[in-house]
Amino acid sequence: MGRTTKARAGQTRTFCEGESPNHQKLVTVRGVLRRGLALLLAALLVTGLTSALAGCGANTAATSQKNTASKKVYQIGVIQPIEHPSLDTIYTGFKEGLKEQGYADKVKLDFQNAQGDQSTMNTISQRFIADKKDLVLAIATPAAQAVAAQTKDIPVVGAAITSFTAAKLAQSNDHPGGNVTGVSDMAPVDAQVALITDLVPRAKTVGFLYNSGEANSVEQVSLIKKAVEAKGLATTELTVTNSNDIQQVTQALVQKCDVIYVPTDNTVASAMPTVSQVANSAKIPIIVGADSLVTDGGLATAGVNYTELGKKAAAMAVSILKGAKPADMPIEVMTKEYQIDINKKEADLFGITIPDKYKDAKML
Ligand code: TRP
Repeated sequence: MGRTTKARAGQTRTFCEGESPNHQKLVTVRGVLRRGLALLLAALLVTGLTSALAGCGANTAATSQKNTASKKVYQIGVIQPIEHPSLDTIYTGFKEGLKEQGYADKVKLDFQNAQGDQSTMNTISQRFIADKKDLVLAIATPAAQAVAAQTKDIPVVGAAITSFTAAKLAQSNDHPGGNVTGVSDMAPVDAQVALITDLVPRAKTVGFLYNSGEANSVEQVSLIKKAVEAKGLATTELTVTNSNDIQQVTQALVQKCDVIYVPTDNTVASAMPTVSQVANSAKIPIIVGADSLVTDGGLATAGVNYTELGKKAAAMAVSILKGAKPADMPIEVMTKEYQIDINKKEADLFGITIPDKYKDAKML
């Protein structure tokens, strides 16, 4: 802009100097005009230049700042403890969410799956820290715990963490207080217990199957056990430490109960088809904590929508990249948004007639 003014002023002045000196009157008039014009031009030039300089300076700074802001590609490390469909769905939802927020091209995702191995989870976490990631998306409790144990600085968004407080990832849901926040997938306890009593009314003993090393499962089992016992049912449990134990432990559990409850346990989820096979041959139905566990052979669940959960996690991640602090961002809970999913094949296998109250349930 400044340069245009200067160029125009220069051109005009050249034109004035090129005037013929012969026409006195005209020259006088022109002289006055010329002086006036010259003054005007000088004034214009000075103000033009000054504001152009100031304007240009400010503009250049603002533009380059804007360019860095819009061109900056944020590095996001994604850690998943193990492979199972629910966690894969969350990651897909997260990527969709980033796209919806207009952040698909503003982030680089570094996805790492620990394949059920704790030391791999630690190694991945350490690398994310060494790489100075701008943010870490930790899918499921064991992954979030592994990262949170290694950094108090890098913001961590936890996705599908049953209980941030039970897992010691946050001081409270309202005010996490540290570098971790995110979305909980805590399923409504009463709706789960209702599924047990409505679909398997003859059941006297509920058997819990889970990995006692997963804080998410310990929390769910403790809540559901209490609620089930309050209804006058007996409970029993068998735990696993890794997916290799699952077949054997399920075989032992089916001898001790009439219905199995599987919480959102990552270890059991990774071998759910096996659990279902063993339970089916023993004629023991399984009520589960998530839709993917129904797809993999459970009878029914009252659970959250994991695609939506992934999108919520993406929205939180974007807020953090824009400057929000995890410590002050309340944990999002989806307990009120749950849906009922029933496996038709399993229901038929057990000769269960679905009560009317579940007529809106999704049949998988
Ligand atoms: N809630 C689990 C956790 O906190 C993660 C999870 C989400 C999950 N969906 C699941 C586990 C389905 C097993 C099955 O770690």
